[in-house]
Amino acid sequence: MPLEKQWSFEDSALWKLKLRLQFSGWLQYIIHAAWISILLLITGVGWLIGHWQVLLFWLPLGLATLLSIALVGTIIMVKYGLHPTEKIPPNKNHLDAFDLMRSRQSCRSFQFRNLTADHHAELLKAVQFHTQENQLLGQKPIRFEYIKPPLIVWPVVGAHEFLVAIAPKEYDRLSIIDVGRSLQKIVIQATRMGIATCWIGPGADNKSILQHLDDKIDPENDHVICVCAIGYDSMYKPLFIRFFNRLMHKRLPLSELFFSDPSLSTPLDTQANPYSLYGRCYEVCQWSPSSYNGQTTRCVAITEQEKGEENIIRFDFFTSISSRYYAAVALGIWLANWETGCEALNMRGHFKVLPPITAAPELPRYDISWVVN
Ligand SMILES: Cc1cc2nc3c(=O)[nH]c(=O)nc-3n(C[C@H](O)[C@H](O)[C@H](O)COP(=O)(O)O)c2cc1C
Repeated sequence: MPLEKQWSFEDSALWKLKLRLQFSGWLQYIIHAAWISILLLITGVGWLIGHWQVLLFWLPLGLATLLSIALVGTIIMVKYGLHPTEKIPPNKNHLDAFDLMRSRQSCRSFQFRNLTADHHAELLKAVQFHTQENQLLGQKPIRFEYIKPPLIVWPVVGAHEFLVAIAPKEYDRLSIIDVGRSLQKIVIQATRMGIATCWIGPGADNKSILQHLDDKIDPENDHVICVCAIGYDSMYKPLFIRFFNRLMHKRLPLSELFFSDPSLSTPLDTQANPYSLYGRCYEVCQWSPSSYNGQTTRCVAITEQEKGEENIIRFDFFTSISSRYYAAVALGIWLANWETGCEALNMRGHFKVLPPITAAPELPRYDISWVVN
């Protein structure tokens, strides 16, 4: 008997329309237009019932008019690029490591110009350095391929230069963590140069990436983990993107990320001795990027009493969900920020995967430790 095909929303015409709009770069504007329609609907209701004229008629009508002007303006300026040429942003050499990492924010609207030849060369040098065997935590090679087609990514606009993160097809947790750690180190360097970045995982169309990679990828042995858009931040941003950026640039408090007990129940007092020795390292981990701002990394500080003094011996890093890819990438990003912070403070240590603790619960999942030297 033939198997009956189960109906799924992903087969529906609505979903296909959403995908078509998303990957043709129009969905951002459609969402903006939907807000206008809702306001016009309220205006219509206000007009019909004739009560609360200001609240139900003039206010929504005024807002709908302003939003319509903004929509036409952004389509002309952002989608069709009709605006004055923007300057290349200055470098951030004046910032210390912590302010530099804190200054990074996902860029979702890029200028049309390409990276300068100097920036391009310096960035590719960083790519080469951070993918060397001796820079990785795992045993397997990873790489970042530079490509320059205008991949359609969501909801980012104007991105046309990318680094594509590639790991071995056969799943290896440390290689995925390496992707996060190495690419974040490149992102930190790009930020110092004044280059804007946006990690893109779920918002990238994998098929088109593979097409554009062409012979730079071996589908039998390689796996694309995510991409990172690189370029210069544009001040011309669709309203939806301004809203999205603001919505996403928030973080959990440190008390929900750092703990002082292995069961992750007692928040770490990061201001108290000896934890305060790590200064702003906690903050830069807290503000590291993660897919959909999931913030899935956790950390436990382990101490030991020695001659009546409490000393930190290591920090254990965990993921709070079982995601095989994006949570591991986010953990790798934390490691890069942690390491960069420790280096700035001259706090010596190294990463090591410790043997599994017997009967450890499935979640949070232990991944790696920073062992104090
Ligand atoms: C692995 C990974 C995948 C991501 N994928 C996307 C994406 O597809 N689209 C997007 O706009 N942002 C993406 N982001 C960026 C996050 O949404 C962003 O880092 C988070 O919302 C925090 O915002 P902030 O970086 O501005 O602080 C991704 C980040 C990571 C680390």
